[in-house]
Amino acid sequence: ASGDHVPVLVIGTGYGGSVAALRLAQAGIDVHMIEMGMAWDTPGSDGKIFCSTLNPDQRSYWLRTKTKQPLNYFLGFPIDRNISRYTGILDAEDFAGITVYQGRGVGGGSLVNGGMAVTPKRENFSFVLPTVNPDEMYDTYYPRANAGLGVGVIDSAWFESASAYQYSRVGRKHAGRSGFPWGFVPNVYDWDYMEQEQAGTVTRSALAGEILYGNNYGKKSLQKTYIAQAKATGRVTISPLHRVASVAPAAGGGYTVSIDQLNTNGDTTNVKTVLADRVFFAAGSVGTSKLLVKLKATGVLPNLNDEIGKGWGDNGNVMCGRANHLWDPTGSLQSTIPCSGIDNWTAGGAFSEVAPLPVGIETFASFYLSITKNPNRAQFSWNAATGKVDLNWQTAWKQPGINMAKTIFDKINAKEGTIYRTDLFGVYKIWGDHLTYHPLGGAVLDKATDNYGRLVGYPGLYVIDGSLIPGNTSVNPFVTITALAERNIEKIIATDL
Ligand code: FDA
Repeated sequence: ASGDHVPVLVIGTGYGGSVAALRLAQAGIDVHMIEMGMAWDTPGSDGKIFCSTLNPDQRSYWLRTKTKQPLNYFLGFPIDRNISRYTGILDAEDFAGITVYQGRGVGGGSLVNGGMAVTPKRENFSFVLPTVNPDEMYDTYYPRANAGLGVGVIDSAWFESASAYQYSRVGRKHAGRSGFPWGFVPNVYDWDYMEQEQAGTVTRSALAGEILYGNNYGKKSLQKTYIAQAKATGRVTISPLHRVASVAPAAGGGYTVSIDQLNTNGDTTNVKTVLADRVFFAAGSVGTSKLLVKLKATGVLPNLNDEIGKGWGDNGNVMCGRANHLWDPTGSLQSTIPCSGIDNWTAGGAFSEVAPLPVGIETFASFYLSITKNPNRAQFSWNAATGKVDLNWQTAWKQPGINMAKTIFDKINAKEGTIYRTDLFGVYKIWGDHLTYHPLGGAVLDKATDNYGRLVGYPGLYVIDGSLIPGNTSVNPFVTITALAERNIEKIIATDL
């Protein structure tokens, strides 16, 4: 409530925020979490909490009147549809040169993501986080994160028999025939549940097109792991549909946090002010960067250093599809949860997940999300004229990433005598180069903060999310975000509290 005084306030309920809340609560500290999105704990009129990708309704998008599907064309036709404006679960946030997809709600990105839980190869770690001791990470914090998240791998024998993973087996065949290493990718989905979905003995979720707008069953989102544990301590409270607008030093010490309460139309219905001894920024790379850039530029936190807003990258995300021959069908039933990838990172700078195209009919298409070593980095800046934070990424900056992904798919196409699909992102457009699912950076570790996420210039302010990571993790990012948060919060609890 307005006027409250809390020891710790956490902005955001994604990976970084959930780790901070759990570990602080276990150390005996009361934590209040503020989340701009909804709680996602109550079924709608259809009896389900989340809607599927096959039939998106108002629950799908954050404050849009039309869907903005990442794959927005099929057979050259646009497939977006009108929806009512609502505080839906997936935000397709538009900047000038890129659309950044993010989860909105208690659980952050874990509500909408593919669950792929990948630890970077140790030999790539110094590229990912150059100032962090790899021994600590690989001996302690990556194992702790994997355990906390409930990471598992598909049963390899079952994989061979499951019709829902035919697309993955075709991906393996094509990778192998071109000499690329292919391997299983761990996931937080409950693989036993998945096997029962395939057998038809439980209600389907991954096999019913559920993913981007939430999974009703099977996926171990943060709501079921870190946040459930945090709530069970009795020390953590969460305010959904509340958005932090400002964090300012308070006269008597601590910070005054100004919070807008939202309705499901996105309007502010109430403004609250809370005094917090310590504040953790865990609003995600974009959310944290936007807040810090604005607070520095408008003189609320003038002592933040000049690294604020810098070092932002797209994790090299690019997407593409390939048109297979008629003897290589990928299946009309496809699990939305990917389980495998092609690794050409060392030779070509690309790690490509074999992704589903779960449209319910045979498409003879193979679809891939690539993570590439694209070196381009962008910067957030305050635009006083519009009163908004801009990002200076340009669409053309995706080209190095496209070139890296082509080291895999040009070769596979040549070997198979196949071509790229040109009907998935527009009319005659091969590359999905307009978006990212993996925003990283903006308050980089050991630059905008010290080597543990303490914001330079303001004791008691911390960053603990994907904005600490300088633009790329070489694989999907959430395990690294979680492990880094585990490392930093352990140090902060031991020395600051
Ligand atoms: P995260 O974004 O999770 O959480 C931030 C939270 O803060 C959000 O809930 C947001 O609503 C809230 N917030 C923001 N501003 C606020 C404010 N001012 N006040 C209050 N609350 C505020 N990664 C991976 O490793 N494997 C995968 O398979 C995928 N797949 C994938 C698919 C899709 C569609 C998306 C969009 C993303 C992925 N990702 C992924 C990426 C992954 O989900 C992402 O990297 C993490 O969620 C980022 O974790 P953070 O803790 O940084 O923030």
